[in-house]
Amino acid sequence: MTEKPSEPIYVTQPSMPPQEEFNEYLKKIWNTKVLTNHGPFHQQFEKELADYLGVRYLSVFVNGTMALITALQALRITGEVITTPFSFVATTHALWWNNIKPVFVDIEPDHFTLDPAKIEASITPNTTAIVPVHVYGNPCNVEAIQKIADTYGLKVIYDAAHTFGVKVNGNSVLNFGDLSILSFHATKVFNTFEGGAIVCHDEKTRRRIYFLRNFGFADEVTVIGPGINAKMNEVQSAFGLVQLKYIDEYIIKQRTITEIYRAGLAGVEGIRYITDIEGVDHTYSYFPIFINAEQYGRSRDEVYNLLKESNIFGRRYFYPLISQFPTYRSLPSAKTELLPVATKAASQVICLPIYPDLKLEYVYFIIEILKKGRK
Ligand SMILES: Cc1ncc(COP(=O)(O)O)c(C=O)c1O
Repeated sequence: MTEKPSEPIYVTQPSMPPQEEFNEYLKKIWNTKVLTNHGPFHQQFEKELADYLGVRYLSVFVNGTMALITALQALRITGEVITTPFSFVATTHALWWNNIKPVFVDIEPDHFTLDPAKIEASITPNTTAIVPVHVYGNPCNVEAIQKIADTYGLKVIYDAAHTFGVKVNGNSVLNFGDLSILSFHATKVFNTFEGGAIVCHDEKTRRRIYFLRNFGFADEVTVIGPGINAKMNEVQSAFGLVQLKYIDEYIIKQRTITEIYRAGLAGVEGIRYITDIEGVDHTYSYFPIFINAEQYGRSRDEVYNLLKESNIFGRRYFYPLISQFPTYRSLPSAKTELLPVATKAASQVICLPIYPDLKLEYVYFIIEILKKGRK
C-alpha cells in the first residue's frame, strides 16, 4: 500500500497550462492596454469556446453565479421557480437575488437530478420557470422537463456548471432548454480562475444578454434597462484561450481516474458510485460515492473522517441541502419529508478527489482505505 500522502489531497486542484504560453498573451495585453470592455481576447474566446462546445450563441461572464442571475433577468423570470435542493447554494441564491421564490422539488435516485415526475404537483399560477441542475455532470431528463415546460408555458434555464463539454447523442447538453449557464471557477475542469457563460439559441436573446452584462448599454447613450457589470476581462479571456488547448487532455486524465476508482470500488458492499449513461459523452469532473451505513458498517461522516486522517479531503457535496440553509428552510417546499431522495443522498455522499494531476498512486491509496474501512 502506498504511504499516506505528506501533503493534503483535496477534492480538486486547478489545472494550469504552461505559464510561458500564457505570458505571451499577457505581453500583448501590456502592449495594447486593452484590459476589458469586450476586448479582442474576449471576442476570440467567445468564438473559440462556442466552437469547442458545439453551441451557437455563447456569452462569457465574470463567474457562473452572475451568469445565472443575468440569465433569469434576460428571460424576465418572476414569481416562483421550480428547482433542486441538491446543488451548490449559488443555484438558489441566484433566484433569491432576483426576488424569485424558490420551490424545491425532489431529485431522482439514479443520477440525482430534478425528478420530472414530481415537478407538476409543484406548479402554481405563479410558476414561470424551471431551473434544473445537471449535477455531477449527469444530464437531467431534458425531454421530460421540456414536455412539462411546454405544457405549462414555462421557461427552462439549466444550471450546467458541472457539464462543461458533456454531450448527449453527440449534441452539446447546453443546447437544451431556453438557456444554460456554465461556471469556469478554479474548481471546475475548465477554469479561467473565475468565469462563467450563458448559452442561448437566438441572436435577439444574445443581444439582450450582451446589454445586461454591461450595465444595460446598447450604445454610448442608450441604456435598455438595469444591467449589471458581469463582463469577463481580457486576462481571464486570454487564460481561457490557453486552457482550451489543454482541455481534452484534462478530460482524458479524469476519465482514467474515474475508471480506476470504479474498478477498485466495484463490489465493495455499502459503496455506490454512478456509472456512465448510454449515449452521453461524460467529462468526469466529479467522483461522488454514496455510503450505505448499514451495509458498510460505518456512517458517511465516519468514512469522511477516516479519509481525513489519511490526509485525503473529500467533500460532502451536497450536504446540507440548500433547502436546509437558514434563508430557505422556512419555505413550504423545504420540508424534509417532501425531499426524501435528496435528503438521503445528502446524508450518504462524499465526493472523492479527482483532477487531472492527481497521482494515480493516491487514487489506489484512497481505494485501499475504502476497502479496508468496511466493518
Ligand atoms: C451547480 C453550480 N452552480 C453554480 C455555481 C456557481 O459558479 P461560480 O462559482 O462560477 O459563480 C457552481 C460552482 O461554483 C456550481 O457548482
